[in-house]
Amino acid sequence: MAPEETAGAPAPARAAGRPERPGAGAWVPGGAGVEQLREAARGCRGCELWEPATQVVFSAGDVHGRLALVGEQPGDQEDRRGVPFVGPAGRLLQKAVAEAGIDVSTTYVTNAVKHFRFTQEAPGKRRIHASPDVAHITACRPWLAAELAQVDPEVVVCLGATAAKALLPKDFRVTKHRGQLIRLSTSRGEKTFMGTIHPSAVLRVPEAERDAAYAALVADLRLAAGALS
Ligand code: URA
Ligand code: SF4
Repeated sequence: MAPEETAGAPAPARAAGRPERPGAGAWVPGGAGVEQLREAARGCRGCELWEPATQVVFSAGDVHGRLALVGEQPGDQEDRRGVPFVGPAGRLLQKAVAEAGIDVSTTYVTNAVKHFRFTQEAPGKRRIHASPDVAHITACRPWLAAELAQVDPEVVVCLGATAAKALLPKDFRVTKHRGQLIRLSTSRGEKTFMGTIHPSAVLRVPEAERDAAYAALVADLRLAAGALS
């Protein structure tokens, strides 16, 4: 028996095929502004998602925005372009935001997880979106916490369950609690949060229900904007 196989010996880090996930904390510079955070995130190795992705996708929009929109993770197009919400879900979100009476250029837009998670049958084949696990959300959360502390928005909208898991109480369910304004304490004092449906979920509902799903997203965004002082 090789010495490393002796009972009680520490297992090699990848023995069970389990990825090492130190979390983003060590890569987040303390007290950094959003632009410094964006730069630093390029080197993040806080979980394994960086490796197959093209690049980190940080945030877009107004770094002093009073309304923050938090999505799930970059999709295929966002991963290629390095900008959040530029694919089909992003186009729907922009339309919904405008229809809710919000000037999109005054919002801060980011994601709970900063690298694209996907599956792919073979190199060159289509990359299929895979939702991040709780472990990825947890690993990436130091970026989200740092950027929100810097931007200091008045209202934070969580688009879909992943963003809700990152920021809202554990028992929050999009199906049950969407559209409710929730006051939560943060490192920058009490703030208003809301969870709602993800724009890509609107694209996935059967066509007959899509207009209603879209209208409900617009109504939620309007309510969130109405909570701005
Ligand atoms: N979906 C998201 O949640 N974020 C993006 O940036 C794009 C699609
Ligand atoms: Fe770091 Fe987040 Fe990317 Fe993981 S997903 S490597 S924690 S930036």
